[in-house]
Amino acid sequence: MLSTLPLGLAALATLVVASPSPSTESIQHVALKRQSQPRRTPEEFASWAKLHRDMLRTKYLGTSSSQKRAEGTNLLVNQNLDSSFFGSLAIGTPPVAFNVILDTGSSDLWLADNDCITGCTDVPTLDTSSSSTFVNQSETFSIQYGSGRAQGSLGQDVVQMAGFSVPNQVFGVCDRVSANLLNSPVSGLLGLGWESIASSKAKPFWQTLVSNGAWDQPVMAFQLTRFINDTSADVLAPGGTFTMGAVNSSLYTGDIDYVNIPSGKESYWLIPLETLTVQGNTVSIPTGDSSYAAIDTGTTLVGGTSDAIANIFAQIPDSSPATGNLDGYWTYPCDTSVNVTMNFGGRTWAISPADFILQRSVDGERCVGAFFEIGTTTGTSSLSWIVGDTFLKNVYSVFRYDPPSVGFAELSAAALAQNGVNGLVPDPTIGSVAATVSATGGLRSERNGSGRVAVSWWTSLAATAGLIMAW
Ligand SMILES: *[C@@H]1O[C@H](CO)[C@@H](O)[C@H](O)[C@H]1NC(C)=O
Ligand SMILES: *[C@@H]1O[C@H](CO)[C@@H](O)[C@H](O)[C@H]1NC(C)=O
Ligand SMILES: *[C@@H]1O[C@H](CO)[C@@H](O)[C@H](O)[C@H]1NC(C)=O
Ligand SMILES: *[C@@H]1O[C@H](CO)[C@@H](O)[C@H](O)[C@H]1NC(C)=O
Ligand SMILES: *[C@@H]1O[C@H](CO)[C@@H](O)[C@H](O)[C@H]1NC(C)=O
Repeated sequence: MLSTLPLGLAALATLVVASPSPSTESIQHVALKRQSQPRRTPEEFASWAKLHRDMLRTKYLGTSSSQKRAEGTNLLVNQNLDSSFFGSLAIGTPPVAFNVILDTGSSDLWLADNDCITGCTDVPTLDTSSSSTFVNQSETFSIQYGSGRAQGSLGQDVVQMAGFSVPNQVFGVCDRVSANLLNSPVSGLLGLGWESIASSKAKPFWQTLVSNGAWDQPVMAFQLTRFINDTSADVLAPGGTFTMGAVNSSLYTGDIDYVNIPSGKESYWLIPLETLTVQGNTVSIPTGDSSYAAIDTGTTLVGGTSDAIANIFAQIPDSSPATGNLDGYWTYPCDTSVNVTMNFGGRTWAISPADFILQRSVDGERCVGAFFEIGTTTGTSSLSWIVGDTFLKNVYSVFRYDPPSVGFAELSAAALAQNGVNGLVPDPTIGSVAATVSATGGLRSERNGSGRVAVSWWTSLAATAGLIMAW
């Protein structure tokens, strides 16, 4: 995939971490240099510049109650033509900034460690020995995703993001990461799913904040940009916004249409997919208890059961299942513009035909579609769909803690105007700390380090790029 991109273009992108509140803290700066290299070779990014070793105030270590309610925004980066969307956070004392995939489809935070022995080439890594507040939990950590695994040990430290701080966040410090899971400048992943599926059994960062009342409103929201059909897109492009504690009314129009997560199913962000149409025709899909879709910012595409995917492509003349390395994908004639809609909670949302085209063959005649088979190994019987960025680029999406629900709204003209517009990659913004809350009870008592409790569907396309390119 993505072989048509102008990868040879040399560009110099500098990603500088804002020093949000100079009077009390500072954050190390990350200088990124993109070089002229083929896409599949990890870009060479320059080393960390060690700056500003100012003291962090002990405010991060002090009180455990919420100080005030707030909201915060993190500007995102779109990596490799919508393959993944990452934001930034800071860890430790003094705080060091890292780029992390923002993944509503899993619930653990982890970063590559500077002792990493595999899978971390060119990736900025965490040096826990340089943080005065790091605590080694002396337990193993392991998480399995759709496209690989990350393993290491559990640690605890101050984590800051978009103006929020949790002084005792438990996270994975990983020294073994599957090949292609991390693509520089991304160093790890922030899970934004519910605590019940956390492999670490630690309360997720977002859930600590919202359950302690740190947010103005119990919501977090995404606006994701589209570059997949832009032949001049840079490898790193402006990715949209992630907001915690509020929605940004400049980024959507009309109402946010919320659909409740079924009671007791707070794990992934699960809501029923009621109907799906292709070229205006309704397709047969799983119903009732089997109708659930995980709304997953960390998955590039849309995955469905084999039958449902076959039914979708049955509406596209001359389509066929791909074979070999592309098993699970389907191909179809590129001159067919494919129009898919998905209905959640009675409201229908259309996916742009541009998002349906994952990749063209070299002769431009056959296209790989962006819907793929997830088979039957989801581990959650009611889960039939993984609805990733292919869909989410078409809506403003809101993840609400209470009542537990997922909402969608139409993107505003201001949001749509950001699609396909190359520009400087946004500076990571940690924000001055408006609210600090401690994780209470941090670790569930049954935690015993035996590893994962669920497969998380982080199937970043980056990890399948090799397979697609071989087509
Ligand atoms: C934590 O301690 C364990 C030994 O208990 C060690 O294997 C691991 O490397 C340590 N992790 C870090 C990040 O220091
Ligand atoms: C990409 O697709 C979107 C949505 O269909 C469309 O509005 C836009 O014009 C397309 N961009 C290019 C460069 O073709
Ligand atoms: C809301 O989005 C608009 C448009 O991108 C942006 O200019 C504004 O700063 C955002 N507001 C907040 C509070 O982040
Ligand atoms: C796609 O479907 C939507 C909803 O049915 C419709 O409004 C739109 O006109 C269709 N677009 C194309 C290109 O067929
Ligand atoms: C640890 O957890 C695993 C899986 O839940 C369980 O099989 C095992 O018995 C537990 N071990 C201890 C010592 O509690």
